[in-house]
Amino acid sequence: MLTRGAIFGLGLLVLAACGDDAASPGDGGKAATGSTSASTSSSGGAGGAGGMEPFVPLPEVEGLSVLEDLSPDPHVLEVSLFARASTAEIVTGSTTDVLTYNDLLPGPMLHARVGDRIVVHFTNQLAEPTTIHWHGLRISDQMDGSPLIQNPVQPGESFTYDFVVPDAGTFWYHTHLHQIEQFERGLYGAIVVHEKDAPAFSRERIFVGDDVRLTAANQIAPFQTSGPDIGMGRVGNRLLMNGKEHPAKITIPRGAIERWRFVLATNSLAFDARVTGADVRVIATDGGLLPAPFVLDRINVAPGQRYDLEVRPRADADEITLEALILQLDENDQVVEVPFPLIQATVEGEVTTPEPIYPAITLPATDVEAPLIDWRLAGGVVDGEVQFTINGVPAFVGEGHEHVLLNTFQPNVPVKVRIKSDVSPRHPFHIHGQFFQILERAGQPVNEPGLRDTVHVQGAESVTVLSYFENPGRWMVHCHISEHSENGMMADIQVGEPTANHQH
Ligand code: C2O
Ligand code: CU
Repeated sequence: MLTRGAIFGLGLLVLAACGDDAASPGDGGKAATGSTSASTSSSGGAGGAGGMEPFVPLPEVEGLSVLEDLSPDPHVLEVSLFARASTAEIVTGSTTDVLTYNDLLPGPMLHARVGDRIVVHFTNQLAEPTTIHWHGLRISDQMDGSPLIQNPVQPGESFTYDFVVPDAGTFWYHTHLHQIEQFERGLYGAIVVHEKDAPAFSRERIFVGDDVRLTAANQIAPFQTSGPDIGMGRVGNRLLMNGKEHPAKITIPRGAIERWRFVLATNSLAFDARVTGADVRVIATDGGLLPAPFVLDRINVAPGQRYDLEVRPRADADEITLEALILQLDENDQVVEVPFPLIQATVEGEVTTPEPIYPAITLPATDVEAPLIDWRLAGGVVDGEVQFTINGVPAFVGEGHEHVLLNTFQPNVPVKVRIKSDVSPRHPFHIHGQFFQILERAGQPVNEPGLRDTVHVQGAESVTVLSYFENPGRWMVHCHISEHSENGMMADIQVGEPTANHQH
């Protein structure tokens, strides 16, 4: 087994957030996400929503560049994306060699409305194969970028990803091959999908958080193949906000009501986040808007997860800060919580903002009879190498590796999955192509509302989630810490009848 020393690195225990204080759900509108009948209409290529409604431009989202839309059809977003070695100014005044999409860190933001078709003409200009996964989008498994289904795009080759976005929310995309290095070096970006009747804010912003380990010369530090980096996942020595060393500096007027979309694209680092100087409600999780916004002092954020916040500057505040509370060991080896500001907003000017009107959202029922299955996450040393398993079995992608089919599910039939970490490392556990809701931790009901695709399973803890497995196909399930997934903690599930449509 892993030794305690190997798995208790720096900054790695994170306290669970809790709280309730449900506020009013707002009114009007139609259910946007999560109805059990909402399974995808996408098979990679059906046209956009089309229809009669007058075209309303998408609300602007500040913070990241968007790509030129090559399609004249307002319901189709068509872009060219390339992956290649490039440079970024992570630390002001210095240049870091990175891998990027379109020479940007993070990659360009894809911006669409629910029901739109997205066509991505992707070219791999890296020196190695890659794929792109659209994390959280419930699209066809053929377009999901899973290397279990898609033949990796070889250097110099192209592939067109083509799908219809079935859900509104904050999502992201990233490489799904040789992720330990490709992802840490910069291959990720954000996706914003607006609701049909999106609530109006004075401003929307996107924030993608990351950490990276730089050398003294501000280059990506060498990768380790053993020790804590594998046991715990690699943690960086720089925190980034939208590709720059933290914090992001913005200004916000008094009277504003803003929507901040937050994506955590770290490899392993998780933390509690807290906002000071503003009244904040959580309005959306991984799978989109909540039936009712809620208030939390702090939110536990793990790699791969998203939260949308409604932010209102307090009357007496001159500054608003979003801080990551990161656990570190002090000089006496005591675990202490250290605040790192990720966003610093200066309150300046004044506006009047009408109350946002949230569409009515109904999530799939969770008080239902459902069979319970177990996924046990474990790790140990096999032949001198650290190996991670799900239900005792490791799985790998690539030549000569068999896919491991963990379970087969019937579409639209609820199942409870108890995900248990048998050893102390944490596992931000991700299910491709599906949403679920969190029911229990350690057998006790929890109040962590909303649709998720990634759940933070803390060390030696069990978390029970419920999913309707609405989206048929063959899907990966894995820990989002690359060192864990690529050393075995991944598997496949099948939803519905298998089809013989794998590329390999
Ligand atoms: Cu964001 Cu398979 O992962
Ligand atoms: Cu893990």
